[in-house]
Amino acid sequence: MNKPLTGHIRTDGEAIWIDDYLKLGGYQSLSVISKMLPQDVTKLINDSGLMGRGGAGVSTGFKMAAVPMGEKAATPKYLICNADEMEPGTFKDRWLLEGNPHQLIEGMLVSAYAIEASVAYIFVRGEYKLAIKRLEQAVKEAYSKGFLGQSLDMHVHPSAGRYICGEETALMNALEGKRATPRSKPPFPPAIGVWGKPTLINNVETLCNLPHILNHGIDWYKALSKGVNAGTKIYGVSGHVKKPGAWELPMGTTARELLEVHAGGMKDGYEFKALLPGGASTDFWLEDKLDTPMDFASTAKIGTRMGTGTMIVLDDKTCPIGMLLSLEKFFKQESCGWCTPCRDGLSWVAEILSAFERGDGREADIAQLERHARLLGPGSTFCALAPGAASPLATGLKYFKDEFLRHIQEKSCPYANHLHR
Ligand SMILES: Cc1cc2nc3c(=O)[nH]c(=O)nc-3n(C[C@H](O)[C@H](O)[C@H](O)COP(=O)(O)O)c2cc1C
Ligand code: SF4
Repeated sequence: MNKPLTGHIRTDGEAIWIDDYLKLGGYQSLSVISKMLPQDVTKLINDSGLMGRGGAGVSTGFKMAAVPMGEKAATPKYLICNADEMEPGTFKDRWLLEGNPHQLIEGMLVSAYAIEASVAYIFVRGEYKLAIKRLEQAVKEAYSKGFLGQSLDMHVHPSAGRYICGEETALMNALEGKRATPRSKPPFPPAIGVWGKPTLINNVETLCNLPHILNHGIDWYKALSKGVNAGTKIYGVSGHVKKPGAWELPMGTTARELLEVHAGGMKDGYEFKALLPGGASTDFWLEDKLDTPMDFASTAKIGTRMGTGTMIVLDDKTCPIGMLLSLEKFFKQESCGWCTPCRDGLSWVAEILSAFERGDGREADIAQLERHARLLGPGSTFCALAPGAASPLATGLKYFKDEFLRHIQEKSCPYANHLHR
């Protein structure tokens, strides 16, 4: 099966419930792990080459191996599924949560076995009402069949609704009922996590891969990919394309194939200008990067990031500065306020971009924005929200300088009269 994660998801919008899931071979990976030692499960996942799908692309096996094992390890150990999915343009986990919640529970059972966790949380975006309802139902079913309740207890925890709650250490504070600000790292969550205990945090799509790796082995898993990293990837495309959507495809599918084949190309009357490859916190790519395989290693090689792999397309009828303004306003609103470049800098960035859109931009403001993009960059803040906000800003300033100058010369937004602004 070349779409292991989504191949069975129904097209009528209904979820796969327990009886159908069992008929499809669901929960079989639990028999596989019952014959293995926990550390052998971790080794297998490590050898499979699975990289986390939450955006940063860290090896899942490496993170599992960082959880202390043996009698001296602090208990209880926790497993958290990060289902917060508030990254603008990203809607891949929702498909998995609503369509096949048992696949996630099975993946969490595999992971919990490997790290000997006894309590698991699914921290889910509060607005994902249908996903929450279905997860609760699926957890109930898994208890009734005895998959949960023996070695592992599982809770569904809806988020109170801030983007920062998706950052893993802010998530742990939120779960503890504290203000959701990120924690300093180190210590990293596998060593000292929620309630001071070892905690492993993984994305929904990451965890959904685990049962399939256990059932079919690492050679099968690696062969699913046509890129450098293993497996499949759920990619998405939004913007003025003919068929916006999400698809499970071989890891390493090029941005061009996603745009031109799966999303059907640009809508009539629209030309491609640029794209953000993986949500709002990634760099703009121009046409010259379209043939890049969308995987973690290939994008890192050309000095950029795939992020969540769910791209936002910018066309020739949409103002790039207007798009930047809307992204930076989002980041400004969602800043937790702990670090100065993020708390104060993003307000200035949004203010200056608004001035350009009003026709009040000045050439000196471009240098000011460039300065903020540097100050927000990696190394100056506690978490990756600020560097994420800096990515579209820095590359937008680099690629759309002529658009900034046009706003200054025309003393207004040249796109202001377009219907779709
Ligand atoms: C501001 C911010 C928001 C984030 N939101 C999410 C999210 O909604 N879901 C997610 O899986 N990871 C999110 N992350 C990344 C997590 O901190 C973490 O790296 C991820 O959950 C690890 O899972 P993985 O190893 O399976 O990729 C976010 C990071 C930042 C900085
Ligand atoms: S970078 Fe922004 S969101 Fe992250 S800790 Fe600092 S102020 Fe908070």
